[in-house]
Amino acid sequence: MRPPTDDNGATSTVIARVLPEHRRRGLGTRLYERALETAHALDTQVIETVVAASNPDGLRFAEQHGFVEIERHLLREGDTVHWIGLRLT
Ligand SMILES: CC(C)(COP(=O)(O)OP(=O)(O)OC[C@H]1O[C@@H](n2cnc3c(N)ncnc32)[C@H](O)[C@@H]1OP(=O)(O)O)[C@@H](O)C(=O)NCCC(=O)NCCS
Repeated sequence: MRPPTDDNGATSTVIARVLPEHRRRGLGTRLYERALETAHALDTQVIETVVAASNPDGLRFAEQHGFVEIERHLLREGDTVHWIGLRLT
């Protein structure tokens, strides 16, 4: 979790990551829920995440946990894969 750094401390960024060989056992959900608890303890008002458009598992995970797309961008000029910013609703 990246704690709030701007907009008066309102927004935290949460990214869950589990090693491939340990996925689909509920660990990602537990990690995510723990990060949410930390974010709320820091008085976060808005929770965001970022997922590569080429990562359907990550996008599905985020959407199933209530995130909706708010923007997409390329990291560097010439990149072809967009990064998608999502916000918890
Ligand atoms: C996204 C990510 C964190 C998910 O981790 P995970 O540990 O697999 O997450 P979960 O196990 O909680 O849930 C994933 C799937 O496994 C299923 N699952 C959970 N426990 C299960 C079990 N015991 N048996 C079978 N399936 C199970 C969930 O229902 C879910 O299924 P679905 O995607 O088909 O709906 C992981 O894929 C990852 O690290 N990806 C790369 C980083 C990334 O994209 N992060 C997302 C940004 S928020």
